[in-house]
Amino acid sequence: MTGEKTSRKNVAVLISGRGSNMECLIRASRVETYPARIVGVIASTPAAAGLERAHREGVPTAINRLAEFTDRPAADAAMTRQLHAWKTDIVCLAGFMRILSADFVDHWHGRLINIHPSLLPRFKGLDTHRRALQAGDAEHGCTVHFVEPELDAGPPILQQSLPVLPHDTPQTLAARVLEIEHRIYPEALAMLARGEIALPPAPTKH
Ligand code: GRF
Repeated sequence: MTGEKTSRKNVAVLISGRGSNMECLIRASRVETYPARIVGVIASTPAAAGLERAHREGVPTAINRLAEFTDRPAADAAMTRQLHAWKTDIVCLAGFMRILSADFVDHWHGRLINIHPSLLPRFKGLDTHRRALQAGDAEHGCTVHFVEPELDAGPPILQQSLPVLPHDTPQTLAARVLEIEHRIYPEALAMLARGEIALPPAPTKH
């Protein structure tokens, strides 16, 4: 029976850095019953350490450097061409540190998800662990969410929290949050790949 395998969704992962979430998605997809397979990884810089991890896992990679294009939409259009060449159904951002153009986000509407290291809508943007400590929050965590044009603002798919401990530093907190990121990202992707969740269609533009 090949039916189950052919219905798996093709997923590409966009990274800029170490790629630990990317690696977790690749590993999760090695399980035969997982509803998605990772067909490629695009890095915004050749310096992304995750590229090496992807090579080790035997996943095709591409590099898309903003500096090599006239502008952001042109760079993002090249990414979309690469994603289509891989027959991508779903795009996962995993530490992709570049703002995406509205056209790219529109094109992948409902098929573009991100992991963010905070309990959104709290602490959008960078430096979330330090900000959570400074705010004196008793809980912190991470969120997988659909991507919409506004930064870190799309509807959440899964969220998990953990207690902030008395002696936490941004580093110790980040390390514990990363552990739960690695649990919820594969789970959220599986929910989307199985069609258990969906984003309503984007409003029509006039
Ligand atoms: C993670 O903390 C993720 O939540 C954030 O960027 C970091 C990427 O880490 N968006 P890694 O590259 O997956 O190890």
